[in-house]
Amino acid sequence: KAKEKVHWVCSNCGYSAGQWWGVCRSCGEAGTMKEFHETKGSDNKVSGFAVMDGAVGPWLPHQEETQLRPLRLAEVNRGLDQLHWRIPLNGPCGNEVSRVLGGGLVPGSLTLVGGDPGVGKSTLLLQIAAMITEECNDSEASPVVYVSGEESVEQIGNRADRLGITEDIYLYSSNDIEDILKKVQYLSPRALVIDSIQTVYLKGIMGSPGGIMQVKECTSTLLRFAKTTNIPVLLIGHVTKSGDIAGPRVLEHIVDVVLYMEGEKYSTHRMLRAVKNRFGSTDELGVFEMSHSGLQAVSNASEMFLSEQHLDSEILAGLAVAVIMDGSRTFLIEIQALCLSGSTGSRQVNGIHANRADMIISVLIKQAGLRLQENAVFLNVVSGLTLTETAGDLAIAAAICSSFLEVPIPNDIAFIGEIGLSGELRMVPRMEKRVYTVAKLGYRMCIVPKTAEKTLGNEGLEKMTLVGCRNLKEVIYTVF
Ligand code: TYD
Ligand code: MG
Repeated sequence: KAKEKVHWVCSNCGYSAGQWWGVCRSCGEAGTMKEFHETKGSDNKVSGFAVMDGAVGPWLPHQEETQLRPLRLAEVNRGLDQLHWRIPLNGPCGNEVSRVLGGGLVPGSLTLVGGDPGVGKSTLLLQIAAMITEECNDSEASPVVYVSGEESVEQIGNRADRLGITEDIYLYSSNDIEDILKKVQYLSPRALVIDSIQTVYLKGIMGSPGGIMQVKECTSTLLRFAKTTNIPVLLIGHVTKSGDIAGPRVLEHIVDVVLYMEGEKYSTHRMLRAVKNRFGSTDELGVFEMSHSGLQAVSNASEMFLSEQHLDSEILAGLAVAVIMDGSRTFLIEIQALCLSGSTGSRQVNGIHANRADMIISVLIKQAGLRLQENAVFLNVVSGLTLTETAGDLAIAAAICSSFLEVPIPNDIAFIGEIGLSGELRMVPRMEKRVYTVAKLGYRMCIVPKTAEKTLGNEGLEKMTLVGCRNLKEVIYTVF
């Protein structure tokens, strides 16, 4: 017996939904959603999802017409242009996420949020789900569905309480992708969260959940679901950057956006970084703090890598502030050095590449006349960060000098510059941005390479002295 299924398809862009919309959620045109009847033959399996038998998902009756032949550029439907319309995420926390995504969530995109277990992925995504829901105050509007294969709905509910979430999110606990998509399709949500890819499976595919085959096939299914329904899907994966814990780094090739959430074990700071983004740049960094009520945006992100001692009035020898760029963001990072005289010249470095540290120490010995040979030198970067930029060279050298000479550096001086083998200071990229951040944070003095001093204007730098130095000797005369 033939059964009839009703779809609503936008006559402007072809977007299809399980319900009627006054304004098309894809192209924004009003009054374009037209009723569309699909007759289900007996051979048309309702549960026949795309991956299993190659059948088109039941939510897209018009797909064959629009996608069967190559289209001319001019014919391509701009209503679906994903680069322009995005789902905004608001609030301080939302802005951070939005920035990393390249300006909001793209409809029909599949985003993987990876990270170590316990780093806060579920927390972040529940918060994102709430933000998307909040965006639309209309209670009749379609919901955001949060599906967990790891936790019961009660557990998710408890977490939502803890996070102070009151938005009307739909929660579902299941491991069966087919079941999930069937239920979700019925709700026609604004966004779908799957927590996590390691816990879901697809019937008829070999292997257990979390295995390479299952993970690949489930992700492909979700990608197809996202593309055909235009519903953005956010996928959690317990994936570390090296990819060796859960294996499936292969996921990265399938999805549109890959975000990694990072954080040190004993620090409350969490960083969100895009390592792949089909809709934006990958050099944006989101910075959060894990609080008792979830992730919060960090207001003073530039200063978050400075230790508490640094802000104290009593200043210790061996500390210097470096100015580092990550993405388009500037961070002030504290470098700590300890020189122990009367021992062999051993070196212990943490957060700095050993070769770079060796080079800086050698230059200090040879070009600045510091007798570091008979000293053990320890170097450390606050908050477990690793410096990858040579812009931190000067601060490293300054910290070593400070400890060696036992003269503290006033805590309102910052250092920017690369050190060459002859002890000369070199320019680093985006000097202006770095110096400007230092000035904005109320620093009294900033030591820069002489060449940089000339190129920098005075705008915004009235309250700060910019000191240009040619080489390490000049820096030592200036500071100590
Ligand atoms: P979770 O989001 O469950 O991590 P993941 O999904 O990446 O495994 O969060 C894990 C940790 O976050 C957990 O140890 C408790 C902590 N946490 C907070 O500090 N504050 C909070 O509000 C919440 C919900 C969790
Ligand atoms: Mg989790």
